[in-house]
Amino acid sequence: MDNESRRIILITGASGGIGKQTALALAEQGHTIVMHGRNPDKTREACRWIMERSGNPDVHAHIADLSLIANVARFAAEIEASYDHLDVLINNAGGQFGTTRETTAEGHEKTFAINTLQPFLLTSLLMPMLRRSASARVVTVASESYRQGGPALRDDVELERHYSLTRAYGLSKRYAWWLMREFDRRLKAEGVTNVTVNTVEPGSAFTGLQRESGKSPLMRLVLALWTPFMRSAAHGARTSVLMATSPAVEGVSGEFWGNGKPKRINPKWSDPEGQRWIWEYCAKACNRWLG
Ligand SMILES: NC(=O)c1ccc[n+]([C@@H]2O[C@H](COP(=O)([O-])OP(=O)(O)OC[C@H]3O[C@@H](n4cnc5c(N)ncnc54)[C@H](OP(=O)(O)O)[C@@H]3O)[C@@H](O)[C@H]2O)c1
Repeated sequence: MDNESRRIILITGASGGIGKQTALALAEQGHTIVMHGRNPDKTREACRWIMERSGNPDVHAHIADLSLIANVARFAAEIEASYDHLDVLINNAGGQFGTTRETTAEGHEKTFAINTLQPFLLTSLLMPMLRRSASARVVTVASESYRQGGPALRDDVELERHYSLTRAYGLSKRYAWWLMREFDRRLKAEGVTNVTVNTVEPGSAFTGLQRESGKSPLMRLVLALWTPFMRSAAHGARTSVLMATSPAVEGVSGEFWGNGKPKRINPKWSDPEGQRWIWEYCAKACNRWLG
């Protein structure tokens, strides 16, 4: 691959599941791969595996637990110190938790912290690096579950009074999608034309996602019935890979893709005012790090 086509691509949550397969596919295309993971041994092992399988030595591992926003800020600073710009940011890291509400050491509901606040802050902090690219893309992995959280709860965003596993996961992914639409809206309003922002959903893929949530009896039953219809993690990675580097989607921004094509979204799930509201909520929560 010539230097002009080689992209610097950061993939969060690339130590396993869909992220690892996304990193492999993009390494096979010959790009510089910056892979993030939380567990040092698992991430370094995944990094070695990707280098071996792809024959691409330009794969680099960085470690951070991104459920704490202070860590997201530290991680962004480490990336900024290590690379002069970024061409693609894939916000893939995500989690699903149990039937009882849990909070991080910073006091945020865990699902909201990793699925919503984290991609918001990371994208915000890395935006200057993305803007230094000739043509940059942000790809955020949400979920078809965006429809399963019920209405946005403006007086209980982090579900202190209304927690359920399904609501927490569904709303966290809907908010992540709304935030990406808001990034797109703001960039367009500023006249920025070299950064696109899209959301993807991978379909149902067999990964480690349900290791916590799958302990509940209801989820065990759902999984037992659903497992035969689940695809491989490599299949789940396809739309992320497409949106990250395919020339076919150059310039596409503000969209939600799944299964290799734009999703048809019932307008009842889109909410421009909700986008701005969740942006303000996250900006306030991350205020200290946004300067
Ligand atoms: N699998 C599906 O059917 C499905 C469907 C819709 C959407 N998704 C989304 O796809 C994305 C990838 O999930 P997956 O299915 O591949 O699950 P996975 O196998 O559990 O992979 C998730 C990745 O995120 C990392 N991660 C989780 N919590 C983290 C934290 N606090 N800090 C840093 N890294 C963290 C994990 O690290 P560890 O290896 O250390 O755990 C792992 O690398 C997620 O955003 C998920 O919500 C998945």
